[in-house]
Amino acid sequence: METTVKDILFSSAKIGGFEIKNRIVMAPMTRSRAINSIPGENVATYYAQRASAGLIITEGTAPSANGIGYARTPGIFTKEQIESWKRVTKAVHNKGGKIVVQLMHVGRIAHPANMLPGARIVAPSAVASKGEMWTDTLGMQPMPQPSELTAEEIKQTIAEFAQAAKNAIEAGFDGVELHGANGYLIEQFINPTANKRTDAYGGSAENRSRFLIETTKAVIAAIGKDKVGVRLSPYNTFNDLELYPETAETYKYLAEELNKLDILYLHLIDVLANASEEGRSLVSTIRNTFKNTLILAGGYDKASAEQALEEGRGDLVSFGRFFISNPDLPERFRKDAPLAEGNQQLFYAAGDEGYTDYTSLN
Ligand SMILES: Cc1cc2nc3c(=O)[nH]c(=O)nc-3n(C[C@H](O)[C@H](O)[C@H](O)COP(=O)(O)O)c2cc1C
Repeated sequence: METTVKDILFSSAKIGGFEIKNRIVMAPMTRSRAINSIPGENVATYYAQRASAGLIITEGTAPSANGIGYARTPGIFTKEQIESWKRVTKAVHNKGGKIVVQLMHVGRIAHPANMLPGARIVAPSAVASKGEMWTDTLGMQPMPQPSELTAEEIKQTIAEFAQAAKNAIEAGFDGVELHGANGYLIEQFINPTANKRTDAYGGSAENRSRFLIETTKAVIAAIGKDKVGVRLSPYNTFNDLELYPETAETYKYLAEELNKLDILYLHLIDVLANASEEGRSLVSTIRNTFKNTLILAGGYDKASAEQALEEGRGDLVSFGRFFISNPDLPERFRKDAPLAEGNQQLFYAAGDEGYTDYTSLN
């Protein structure tokens, strides 16, 4: 079948064991509506409204109590959370959509006021993030110094990811995405400015990648390689990470290893890399190294997404902010209809306003 430049975004694609109806992916977005870490009825409504995306990736969802750091963010480690997610997957599937859950462990990006009783702030090293974060009870707060994970605790944390992946399948998700981007636990291991370890999990590119690779292997063993995606953000400095000279070497290694593991997809935030010659070369190396589906992300619009797909730089493109205020984004792209502007004040607010009240064209 011939695909023209004009309809490439709207062409179906086979990824792993399933088919998606277009190449427009809804990017993972924390929306802070999960009271007591449980996604309510409005969360199901929100995702169902966006089921015309080829694939939905949910907001970051914690695999364990230690993985929650922000206010009103969900988990997938208790019976009640799993039951509540079933409502979400059912609502999306009923509308013909596909949905994977993003497993996000925040690591050091956390405050106790946002955490469940007994949870601890853990990270590869006892290096605090210099930022502040919102808490519902105390307002803005500095983030405390995390405890360094012991070797035994690393094993436990990996096991929690594997169990959360099983829970995700029980909840009806089509797969999981491991959040290895944006400065959360997995990237805290990858980046040497947050990872000061001298054991097998710190130092060389291989060692800093070990936590992600072992987690990916454990999740594959739990649910199968065709249900596991990974998100990465080379050159990211968000959440108090610094740039480091071994970036290209590190991500080249990761692309090789993830390719060997034959996972469902790699979700690459390429916007930061694309700002430099070295980064652009890395993005192209990753594209050539990783043979399965590559999702591109970060600042795309319809025209730049079409161009990226046409040039073969990726297979799918994810859109974040556009999906907040345009639940029927694929339809709007198809018709070249105007896009609604989202209210940033309500991105992370509690309640339905600025959440489920954006309308579709029809
Ligand atoms: C409100 C909001 C919440 C976000 N939460 C997450 C998240 O939970 N996990 C994640 O990987 N990225 C998160 N992101 C980043 C988006 O997935 C995406 O990479 C970013 O918005 C850039 O894409 P865009 O230009 O299409 O919006 C978030 C972005 C926004 C705007």
